[in-house]
Amino acid sequence: MLDLGSGAGFDAFLASQRVGPEGRVIGVDMTPQMIERASTLAKTHGYTNVEFRLGDIEALPVADGSVDAIISNCVVNLSTDKGRVFQEAYRVLKPGGRLMVSDLVLVRPLPEVVAQDMDAYGACIAGALLKTEYLAAIEAAGFERVAIVGERGYGLDMFSPELMEAAKARYPGLSADELASAAGSVLSIQVEGTKAEAVRACGCAPTCCGS
Ligand SMILES: C[S@@+](CC[C@H](N)C(=O)[O-])C[C@H]1O[C@@H](n2cnc3c(N)ncnc32)[C@H](O)[C@@H]1O
Repeated sequence: MLDLGSGAGFDAFLASQRVGPEGRVIGVDMTPQMIERASTLAKTHGYTNVEFRLGDIEALPVADGSVDAIISNCVVNLSTDKGRVFQEAYRVLKPGGRLMVSDLVLVRPLPEVVAQDMDAYGACIAGALLKTEYLAAIEAAGFERVAIVGERGYGLDMFSPELMEAAKARYPGLSADELASAAGSVLSIQVEGTKAEAVRACGCAPTCCGS
């Protein structure tokens, strides 16, 4: 199992128990500090079937067709090349392998001032794609049976009064309605997709030429 953007390793540690002693879990993260932290936690808590590799999810340090399943939580939205991330995920999966990602997406574009805000990018919001674009990127990479298996809106109730006050101060040009609309445009989704069992006659992704 492979975890894209493994951070401090918590999902990899949960996966470690699911794959059992015969299985292996690889976490990839671009931040040396996260790799160091996750590796230390693995050692301290005896997760011997987990390893963490430094790398970019747009150029995975993982061999072709070598993993059974890929998970990722709140990471792909941070990538500047999401299409490439899904192509890489497709490359490293074995035929029949599964992708299961949890991420933030948008139901409508954010106001420009929010979309350009680097802090909003770091908060996993400004880099988020429209839901339709996100699903299209997964399908364009070659995945089949792409489906949303969970979805939860980030309605206004998700934002504390303090956070909304901070947002008003940060974006003084936005009306209360515009702020509410921006906050309500964010969705948390869980998406799955599968890499076909059989390689197509042409050897390329199923969406490439339909053969
Ligand atoms: C919001 S945290 C999520 C961490 C973890 N998945 C979790 O749920 O706790 C995002 C993580 O993705 C990593 N990350 C962001 N962009 C990345 C990229 N392009 N390649 C590899 N790792 C990336 C960051 O270093 C960070 O550890």
